Amino acid sequence: MATVTELLQPVELDLETLLTDLRSLIGAGHPILQAAAEHLFSAGGKRLRPGIVLLISRALSPEGELSARHRRLAEITEMIHTASLVHDDVVDEAATRRGVATVHSRFNHRVAVLAGDFLFAQASWHLANLDNLDVVKLLSRVIMDLADGEVKQGLFRYDSDQSLDNYLEKSYCKTASLIANSAEAAGVLSDESEEHLKLLHHFGRQLGLAFQVVDDILDFTGNDQQLGKPAASDLVSGYLTAPALYALEENPSLSVLIEREFSGEGDLEQALHLVRNSRAINRTRELAENFASESREAIKWLPDSPSRRALIQLPEFVLSRLY
Ligand code: IPE
Ligand code: IPE
Ligand code: MG
Ligand code: MG
Ligand code: MG
Repeated sequence: MATVTELLQPVELDLETLLTDLRSLIGAGHPILQAAAEHLFSAGGKRLRPGIVLLISRALSPEGELSARHRRLAEITEMIHTASLVHDDVVDEAATRRGVATVHSRFNHRVAVLAGDFLFAQASWHLANLDNLDVVKLLSRVIMDLADGEVKQGLFRYDSDQSLDNYLEKSYCKTASLIANSAEAAGVLSDESEEHLKLLHHFGRQLGLAFQVVDDILDFTGNDQQLGKPAASDLVSGYLTAPALYALEENPSLSVLIEREFSGEGDLEQALHLVRNSRAINRTRELAENFASESREAIKWLPDSPSRRALIQLPEFVLSRLY
């Protein structure tokens, strides 16, 4: 399977421009906040979300060209994503991200809260300046969903009665909403039909769900170096993701350990063992596979081009992170 760089090859130059533009957009108003944001942009994430926006934009354009507004949309998407990560790492008390120290551990919590707000605010400003009300609505909905998802997740910590539907709804808010709505917004900027907009949204939604489900498996099966962020951290924080929920079905005694918040000697090790050695990981992988194939189906109508071929392979790439 291709690496993410190979996959994003049709928009490789666009992504380089994006990074330069992001740096100048973030501006020099507040040196500390800029340093905090810059720190994360330099660390280099996968740039999957702006990559998707750029690939869709090119795939929808007959000559494969890219407008300034499509470019700006991709930049806004990465700003919102990075802002959500800065805040997520505070909430999750994570020390590393993209292989480097998180903003709150390098600076402090106050800087991280402000830097995240600063990025959200910048994103909103540039969003408004796109002068397209439909796009403003789609992307401001994402910012609402992100907050909603984090709050929901917090409310259900250590609650072993929660349903898989609840987990999926939360995952939509935290992760899939950004991919779905930015994919749709790329279509809006290209004057696509209602039907195509729905399909672009569905593509992003199912891809985002697959992505979060895979991230939640990797939390159980990966290590800190591979992930560039702390592994085995969801369960200890009380976040019951799909692997934990499936393991609970198979082994109801796990709920005792969860409900007492792993306060007993060896509780956490035992719980991790129960999840890793049950059918839960396989079942969760099947869940991700279903989302991935639904995602691929949703964009079959795109006319053939290098960008379309990359988009069609993306769901498979998301799954390949497991191997
Ligand atoms: C991390 O997203 C947050 C989740 C939705 C799991 P990515 O894994 O895409 O993060 P970067 O941008 O590549 O660092
Ligand atoms: C995704 O959830 C976070 C956001 C999209 C804000 P996680 O908390 O699982 O993300 P990671 O694992 O820290 O990247
Ligand atoms: Mg986190
Ligand atoms: Mg989190
Ligand atoms: Mg995670």
